[in-house]
Amino acid sequence: MLLITFSLLIGMTFLLLAKLSLWRYNCSQLMPGRKLNFLNIFGDLIEVIKYLNSDADHPFQLKILNALVNCCKTFQKQQLFCLWGFYTPLVFLVKSGAVKEVLNANGLKEKSWIYEWGKLGFGNGLPCSQHAIWKPRRKMINRCFHPDVLRGFIPIFNDKAQKLVNFFQENGKEFITINDTIQLCSVDVVCGFPLVRPQNLAKIVKKYEIPEGNHSKLRAGELFMNRICKFWLWPEFIFWNTPSGRDTKSNLKVLKDFTRKIMHEKKEQYLTSECKMYEGKRQALLDLLLDLHCDTNQLSEEDLLDEVNSFALAGSDTTASTVTWAFYMIGLFPEIQKKIHQELDRVFEKDIDKEATEDDLNQLFYLDCVLKV
Ligand code: HEM
Repeated sequence: MLLITFSLLIGMTFLLLAKLSLWRYNCSQLMPGRKLNFLNIFGDLIEVIKYLNSDADHPFQLKILNALVNCCKTFQKQQLFCLWGFYTPLVFLVKSGAVKEVLNANGLKEKSWIYEWGKLGFGNGLPCSQHAIWKPRRKMINRCFHPDVLRGFIPIFNDKAQKLVNFFQENGKEFITINDTIQLCSVDVVCGFPLVRPQNLAKIVKKYEIPEGNHSKLRAGELFMNRICKFWLWPEFIFWNTPSGRDTKSNLKVLKDFTRKIMHEKKEQYLTSECKMYEGKRQALLDLLLDLHCDTNQLSEEDLLDEVNSFALAGSDTTASTVTWAFYMIGLFPEIQKKIHQELDRVFEKDIDKEATEDDLNQLFYLDCVLKV
């Protein structure tokens, strides 16, 4: 009896795999990509695994990135290409033509299942929400990113940038680790907290009761990327039982408790203040969200927190990594650094205390190219 059950199980598994392989084969005829053998269960992950044995010094994520860069090189002349993780297609858009097609395609409005993972941090905020929630919210929030609103933030950017420079200058060392400070600076810009100085950070940690040692772990993005790269962590029941899953849960709790406390404070200020500072068509994001929650009831408290968490998460990790890498790369190429310096001297007339205006920023063509490469 046991033998029959076992044989049946093997037979059914074999049939299922054959069906999936046939489906994968048919799909792969429609898109550029490697042609996979019927017996290959892992799909393109086999290629990725080969990279894991290369350069022992490189972190895991870099090896995955190298594997992807290699695939992009192979298919760089195509509009798009498809890689298979087991029987899951991962489509990479290479040329702008493919991006245009996807954006115009009516049937491609919903996000992929992988975005479900982000819901733990973003909830129903813009990055992970379904189209029906995303579209009206995006329309409401778009107006906060009008150039007139953004222009109003230039003094804040100047102030935070100056504090960052002062911090580095006071440090006085020839070589320092910059990523944590830049991370704090970007949270500072997005959330409006003076975190860069250690004594300020300590005050915030105390005021918002952030657990010991957890302030540098407000980096949920890093853990999210870690899960994307490690395909064995994809199944929920495995991930949440690993140290990485438990770490993600505790970090997100810290972040969410932090934003919940701040939002309660802001809401109280909003409800008690007599005049709403940014009333009218062009409001800053937080004021608009509070309006939609308190005045028009278009957002529940949970919706409000989801959007705040989304902007805090999506806005700080991304800019921090961009700025950290930009500093590092500019440091590695002194001739590029010299040209940036010359341009800054020309625009600011060697006045290092001059606050940058919108006009000044528009004249920094070379720096713009360096940052966008
Ligand atoms: C160099 C800096 C940045 C990079 C590289 C970056 C990258 C991205 C990417 C690739 C997406 C699309 C994600 C997806 O749908 O899979 C995205 C979406 C988003 N980003 Fe950024 N971002 C940056 C800065 C910011 C900043 C400063 C903010 C907010 C203050 C922000 C807020 C958002 C939001 C809310 C979304 C979701 C938008 C939507 O789905 O409608 N990002 N970002």
